[in-house]
Amino acid sequence: MSIFELRESNLRGYSRIYPTVFDKAINAKQIDENGKEYLDFFSGAGVLNFGHNNPRMTSAIIDYIQGNGVLHSLDMSTTIKRQFMEKFEEVVLKPRDMPHRMQFVGPTGTNAVEAAMKLARRVTGRQEIVAFHHGFHGMTLGSLAATANSYFRGAAGVPLNHVRHQPFGCITRCHGCHSECGLNTLKQLADQYNDSSSGIDKPAAFLVEVIQAEGGVNIADPAWLSALQDLAREVGALLIIDDIQAGMGRTGSFFSFDDYDVDPDIVCLAKGLGGVGTPIAMNLVKPEHDDHWNPGEHTGTFRGQSLSFVAGGVALDYFTDPALMDQVKRYHDIMMQHLSPMHSLPSVQVRGKGMMIGIDIGDGDKAKEVVKQCFEHGLLLGACGTGGRVIKLIPPLTIEEDNLHEGMGIVVSVLANVLEAV
Ligand SMILES: Cc1ncc(COP(=O)(O)O)c(C=O)c1O
Repeated sequence: MSIFELRESNLRGYSRIYPTVFDKAINAKQIDENGKEYLDFFSGAGVLNFGHNNPRMTSAIIDYIQGNGVLHSLDMSTTIKRQFMEKFEEVVLKPRDMPHRMQFVGPTGTNAVEAAMKLARRVTGRQEIVAFHHGFHGMTLGSLAATANSYFRGAAGVPLNHVRHQPFGCITRCHGCHSECGLNTLKQLADQYNDSSSGIDKPAAFLVEVIQAEGGVNIADPAWLSALQDLAREVGALLIIDDIQAGMGRTGSFFSFDDYDVDPDIVCLAKGLGGVGTPIAMNLVKPEHDDHWNPGEHTGTFRGQSLSFVAGGVALDYFTDPALMDQVKRYHDIMMQHLSPMHSLPSVQVRGKGMMIGIDIGDGDKAKEVVKQCFEHGLLLGACGTGGRVIKLIPPLTIEEDNLHEGMGIVVSVLANVLEAV
């Protein structure tokens, strides 16, 4: 038995799905100890948008360490933090006219969501957060309350309170629903909030992913998201967008909501923000809300990691030049072309934006088999959605084109085998 089986917690998950020991990685490839190469269409659950060991980032990190740059600093001011913040302001905030401040939190997405929920409650003096069916926001108690999946919720051990789950308004007919049902729900909610005898309190915030990643690659309908923002404004609640997995270029633009008509009060970022898998999480918060924090009230030892500022700063260069985002759009078309035979199958739905594509095959066991067979053929990918029935494709945005074709070829032939069709 290996040390992993003997001594690693029973909690381990991905090492069971990919039963090998990885040793090296470069861009869209991971290599195991036996020298077998795997194409990575999983990207660390959406962390590695710019590839494994992106050489521009690793050399910047080496230079920083060799120059004795400060590695750990709590939330003290450092030269590298200033460089990151100034670049983020120039590249992301100013072009969008966003007045938001940067709040660094402990380096996981869940911590960003916790902080956002806490602040919304502080700002409004209300308790309830409205989250959405199939949403995923993290594993700590606050964010877990907003996460919809019952498997994860069941591990909480205490009641998950102060969050109300409502239908998500998808652009596609995911999970048998459609945007109309989301819009109708918003109308019902508005009526309830406006009726002082409904027994329903107004919420502190609406917390939403524009593209639900773990929930099954469900894309918000722009009309629904605008209506959600209108409702938030009408009832004096904050709009929090969780862009932890769909942001940082994944959908062909820095934010997943760049082509939506929304102006979120808080944006939660993590995962790809650190560039090369170096952990960091940050909330973008409108100043009038941020003013409600008192110094150090949501503290943490690891806030704003220096190496993440180094690599994350390099990652921002990908957004000063249109080349990578243009490539994401081109690669989207390539991926969709490979998947075109799936359109003839009534039980399969292909949906996605940029380089986050979901293949809903409607059956979790079959999806598990697809993941297993892809692994055997040297391709890493994951399943998501209700019962794990959606195959999610999220290769690094920087993947070489021939690797993209090769990986898509494996996906399609394994799907044909498992579905006994196409
Ligand atoms: C949309 C979204 N929010 C929050 C999280 C939680 O992030 P973390 O696992 O870093 O806590 C995730 C993780 O997959 C996510 O996809």
